[in-house]
Amino acid sequence: MRLVVVSNRVTMPERGEKVAAGGLAVALRSALEKHGGLWFGWSGTTSAEPSSRVEPVRLGNVSYAVVDLTEAERQSYYLGFSNRALWPLMHYRLGLTDFDRSDYAGYLGVNRRFAKLLVPQLKPDDVIWIHDYHLIPLAAELRRRGVTNRIGYFHHIPWPSAEVFGALPFSATLISTMTAYDLVGMQTQTDADNLIGGLVALRGAHRDGERVKAGPRETVVRPFPIGIDVESFRKLAVASVRAATQPIRATTGPLGGRKLVIGVDRLDYSKGIVQRLEAFGQFLRSHPEHRGNVGLLQIAPPSRSDVPEYAELDRQSDEVAGRLNAALGEFDWTPIRVVKKAYSRSALAGFYRRAQVGLVTPMRDGMNLVAKEYIAAQNPEDPGVLVLSRFAGAAHQMGEALIVNPYDTHEVAEAIRTALAMPQSERVRRFERLYATIAASDIGWWTSRYLAALTGAEAADKLAPPEPPRKASGATRKPAARQRATTRPAAKKPAAKTAIQPAQAANDAALGEKRGSFGQRAGSKPLPNAASPR
Ligand code: F6P
Repeated sequence: MRLVVVSNRVTMPERGEKVAAGGLAVALRSALEKHGGLWFGWSGTTSAEPSSRVEPVRLGNVSYAVVDLTEAERQSYYLGFSNRALWPLMHYRLGLTDFDRSDYAGYLGVNRRFAKLLVPQLKPDDVIWIHDYHLIPLAAELRRRGVTNRIGYFHHIPWPSAEVFGALPFSATLISTMTAYDLVGMQTQTDADNLIGGLVALRGAHRDGERVKAGPRETVVRPFPIGIDVESFRKLAVASVRAATQPIRATTGPLGGRKLVIGVDRLDYSKGIVQRLEAFGQFLRSHPEHRGNVGLLQIAPPSRSDVPEYAELDRQSDEVAGRLNAALGEFDWTPIRVVKKAYSRSALAGFYRRAQVGLVTPMRDGMNLVAKEYIAAQNPEDPGVLVLSRFAGAAHQMGEALIVNPYDTHEVAEAIRTALAMPQSERVRRFERLYATIAASDIGWWTSRYLAALTGAEAADKLAPPEPPRKASGATRKPAARQRATTRPAAKKPAAKTAIQPAQAANDAALGEKRGSFGQRAGSKPLPNAASPR
């Protein structure tokens, strides 16, 4: 059997890109390489004429087949229906949802064209894995063209309750296309229940546990909480701090002794960036003793800037940061730095390791991999504290973080104070449990579990699972095919100290980690291979 991955954007390998590509792209590519595969999707560019055929480019064991969109398709399918209707709706932001019939027609049209172009590329024993909300109706379009292969879908963002989803015009038609899949993966049990609830409420589907039926096919809807490549990211953080490249050095500037609170997000309203800035301002007002000795670094690479709501957020975040800095700053201390550019994964890993507090406070998020990256990057001897929104999928697994309601500015402000004051023993205890959890459910575990479920137990035996996640933190791992889907923390026992080389920990300590300051402008020089947080 061969694996066919379909996603809105296709990540083609490029020189030096190993560092830039996110964990998902690397994991999917590694699964594709193992089984031999095809990666199909939008090239990310537009052309005057719609592509009428695709010519796969083979690199190693993987073929890449990309389709250009016309500018009109980019507007309607990507910016319009995907990002002005589905994105806000799925993030419970009905007030921001802008439904337009011609955008919806464009969305369906692109999905139809993708199906038409993909069918000639398919082989009878291919297993097809479709990703993301841009491509919800793709399986239905493939089925219409006679495709009988196993088709799975993974939904990377939240799925709202039937009440919210039902506000979308044509919601019943769109949701019923989900029943063309054999397996639908969700980030959390809540998302899975919401989708099933929507199928029952809007389509009269019959539910039997995780199985749902509204037509000829039975669809399994199950949570598969996505992970990161914990071990690689940990190594990246150690190497980054050790190499002390320019942006990392800048956080340890000459003013010494200042603590660092970090936020890293695409500039997206779902991430709660403005609310986070306000909460940091509130923290400084409520606890003036911290003024001058701590700073917030918010890295926020711009995203979807052609969408008006994103342009407005861009303006609003500048305004709020400017107002707070003017009110609270001193001649030698700027409390908040918002840096609107992407940094390499290596630089981000170094920033995380330097930061005493990781502030991950989305208003709603499918998973939020920054929360996992922040933990993976920590020095086990002197870890920082994660402050995490209860509305991020990650909160379902990472209960040892300081869990907050991002709508409550005072609560977030108090969590920042608690995190900064937390004794080392408690920081270590929380870190060890969080690390064990993310290591036991890393990206390799996620990929192999999903594929085992999609191909069925028997086929899973034939399908060599992607490289098993390296042993880390003493967390034990069952063979992927036998694991049950769960959003419970995968491992509760503390991470074995040996998982993180003692010699290296000593080395880290010798490097004076966590003694960083916030005295200087953080890395003004753009780095190559900049990576955007998801
Ligand atoms: O989280 C959902 C998602 O679509 C990811 O798959 C993607 O990497 C991210 O949002 C960024 O979106 P865009 O492709 O619109 O920049």
